[in-house]
Amino acid sequence: MSAAIVMQAGKARFCYNSRTIMFEWVETMSVGVAEMDEQHRHLFMLVNQIFECTSRAHDPLKEAHPLLDSVMDYNMYHVRCEEEHMHEFGCVDLVHIGMHRWYERRVRSLFQKASAAIRGGDPQAPAHCIAMARFVGEWHLKHIEMTDKRYTSCFNDHGLQ
Ligand SMILES: [Fe+2]
Repeated sequence: MSAAIVMQAGKARFCYNSRTIMFEWVETMSVGVAEMDEQHRHLFMLVNQIFECTSRAHDPLKEAHPLLDSVMDYNMYHVRCEEEHMHEFGCVDLVHIGMHRWYERRVRSLFQKASAAIRGGDPQAPAHCIAMARFVGEWHLKHIEMTDKRYTSCFNDHGLQ
């Protein structure tokens, strides 16, 4: 495969070429908390499904819309899980939480554009779907490495491994 690595944070990879766009969760991305690692992996899987279905020739957008909804729902669930643990364990990080709020606003805006484009039959709809999926994946590559790993010792100290 001749994928070009266009982004790398830690050892996580985002590969892009004419046939392949995908985010790959690798062990070095682990935040040391199995529950959170699983959620990050799941989020990347949903994002990759959006890439996959928008690249298919037959009726790609019919499948894309529910996937966009799933990403929105799972995003919300995931950041709330992290924040609930912070509150539960007494390690609330307001900067981290602020980043989540900014991220949610940005994703919502991209989601609304993609959703409107699909409903309106806009030929640019696949590009809007890909823009949203890319943003979710790219943001998480950086966020996991630079921010999420700050909660590892607190969560571990409270028995969450
Ligand atoms: Fe986070």
